[in-house]
Amino acid sequence: MFKTFDGHICTLSQIEPGSLDNKIIKKRYLSETNVEMIINAPLIANSAKPGQFIVICNNEKGERIPLTISETDKEAGTIGIIFQMVGRSTIELGAMKEGDVIMSLAGPLGMPSEIENFGNCVVIGGGVGTAIAYPVARALKNAGNNVKVIIGARTESLFILVDEMKAFADEVILTTDDGSCGIHGVVTDPLKELLEKGNVDRVVCIGPLPMMKAVSEFTKPYGVKTIASLDPIMIDGTGMCGGCRVTVDGKTKFACVDGPEFDAHLVDWDGLKTRKSFYREYEAKQKEMAIKEAK
Ligand code: NAD
Ligand code: FES
Repeated sequence: MFKTFDGHICTLSQIEPGSLDNKIIKKRYLSETNVEMIINAPLIANSAKPGQFIVICNNEKGERIPLTISETDKEAGTIGIIFQMVGRSTIELGAMKEGDVIMSLAGPLGMPSEIENFGNCVVIGGGVGTAIAYPVARALKNAGNNVKVIIGARTESLFILVDEMKAFADEVILTTDDGSCGIHGVVTDPLKELLEKGNVDRVVCIGPLPMMKAVSEFTKPYGVKTIASLDPIMIDGTGMCGGCRVTVDGKTKFACVDGPEFDAHLVDWDGLKTRKSFYREYEAKQKEMAIKEAK
């Protein structure tokens, strides 16, 4: 156990000989690039709340990967993660199999999502961000909200968790950039219609940065409180390195301990975009190498 910078109690779950901890219990591909893993991590499962994340390290040389917890099962002692194989570390993680053991998991980290009965909520998941939107939407529904979910993907085969969302949401609206399924367009198209009809009390959006920025710009004139889950570069995930800093309402915040959810109307989106692109060239090279090594 350890205490983060802001006083959270976390577990650093490192493998002990003979322990089942950190073992990959189940693995499935949700689409060509998105993988779901169920991992044995009883201490984290016991205390994690929607919106919180873990930091995974595959092996001694591995990068620290922050991933939101997509589900928890306290009885089984397991947590779920869903990730996109976009870079070297996530490609290596995606290559691990059921029964393999992940070197270390630290969590739960970050502030849980604010869950109350707000009234009519619209939860938006863009691409793989839907994995994070899922537990938040379900918790909002359980808190008595009317929950409409908008899921956007580039094409039909990239949708994830549609049936799972349909199982509890009051409405699920799908959009594809190429028109292969649902509305031909992006998530802000149906959002605009819902905002114009009125009766939206809260919007929560999780997905690529340009999507969250666009959602924020759409809801601002309507005065609808909008929450975005940010994914800046993270290193320690406990408030010490400053890597994840973002400017919110003119103040410096650390996404790992103050977030990852923030009021979207107060986020400096352009500053965040610049910081996120710092390592783009290095990341592209590492990805190329990981693909070559995997062949
Ligand atoms: P993507 O690029 O395929 O976009 C998914 C959907 O988002 C699109 O189909 C569209 O409906 C919507 N969208 C994108 N840009 C938009 C814009 N400018 N205006 C309106 N709608 C827009 O998404 P992907 O490839 O699955 O996701 C990859 C990105 O998601 C990565 O950049 C990753 O960093 C980010 N991500 C963010 C989080 C988070 O916590 N915010 C979590 C996981 C992934
Ligand atoms: Fe280091 Fe947030 S990741 S301060």
